[in-house]
Amino acid sequence: VSDAERPGGLPFPFPTVAWRDEAVVLLDQTRLPGALVWRTCGDVAQLCGAIRELAVRGAPAIGIAAAYGLALAWRRAAASGDGPAAALASLGAARAALAGTRPTAVNLFWALGRQARLAERAVAAGADAATVGAALLAQADAILADDLARGRALGEAGAALLPERCAVLTHCNAGGLATGGYGTALGVVYAAQASGREVRVFADETRPLLQGARLTAWELAARGIPVTLLCDGAAGGLLRAGRVDAVIVGADRIAANGDLANKVGTYPLALLAREHGVPFYVAAPASTFDPATPDGAAIVVEERNPDEVLCLGGTRLAPAGVTAWNPAFDVTPARLVTAFITEKGVLRPPYAASLAVLGPDAGA
Ligand code: MRU
Repeated sequence: VSDAERPGGLPFPFPTVAWRDEAVVLLDQTRLPGALVWRTCGDVAQLCGAIRELAVRGAPAIGIAAAYGLALAWRRAAASGDGPAAALASLGAARAALAGTRPTAVNLFWALGRQARLAERAVAAGADAATVGAALLAQADAILADDLARGRALGEAGAALLPERCAVLTHCNAGGLATGGYGTALGVVYAAQASGREVRVFADETRPLLQGARLTAWELAARGIPVTLLCDGAAGGLLRAGRVDAVIVGADRIAANGDLANKVGTYPLALLAREHGVPFYVAAPASTFDPATPDGAAIVVEERNPDEVLCLGGTRLAPAGVTAWNPAFDVTPARLVTAFITEKGVLRPPYAASLAVLGPDAGA
């Protein structure tokens, strides 16, 4: 099957974030799988709202959207007549606003840092506002293109770990939707399919926001990959029955010692995989590794509105007066990770040494 067109008529890779007519355009993931709706963010406040609501989500996709967001902030300032100094102040305010949307995915801070450094250096070198605006847009385009290339490379590295016929269990959505269009955990699945392997996927539904049921199942089915949904709590029985060859998940932030944050429910999956002797792989580009965070205890885990747990589809399920704890992520210790699958190859323990290969590409 060529990369240009996959079964289901969905172009592959398909765009999740784009720049059109001086605005950031997002495939609105809150509407999937029911509707393919593009959401236009004409200013940074709208983009911040879209990130908070998970209209764009997944660590690499949030980073790409934020990179375009800073290009947007600068170009709007320049279009209203601001010179480099005033535009730099607008960029600083936009960076702070975007950084305040979601705390856990390091790709957000990585992309914001790259864009801010570019603008600061260009202004210090005497560039005019229009030149800086063009450079910021070009760097956002490059971050997007680079993410696609990283997804392909890590996909191929991961596919080589899988048997010719295999069943993969995944959690949340670490696919094209969560990235520039290729994917990390699902990038491995796509590369395995392209290499001729017979691969099928078990997808946790992923409470409370159902990224597995709504998004992972949608993009796999669109590409003709057999996918079976299960409730998050059913994973233990599936693993004990020997029906899974590998667990593959993405990550939102990987600390220097290999501890990682990913969608809540990942940690119990890693424990279950260890108990049942199934490899537990984490697929992530270098931009998700954060050498500045020493270990999992230092990772900030986003807590979201309890209503996401108390309600389903806008209908309250829990009795009145009951509250809920709603962490968006959990932290899995490095000792439970069989290997990290990256664009620079498969990295195995001890991670303090093996993660060093990521070099200056890693981190914010
Ligand atoms: O809250 P979300 O949907 O943004 O959480 C996404 C995840 O946990 C993904 O697994 C992670 O960002 C990796 S995406 C390649």
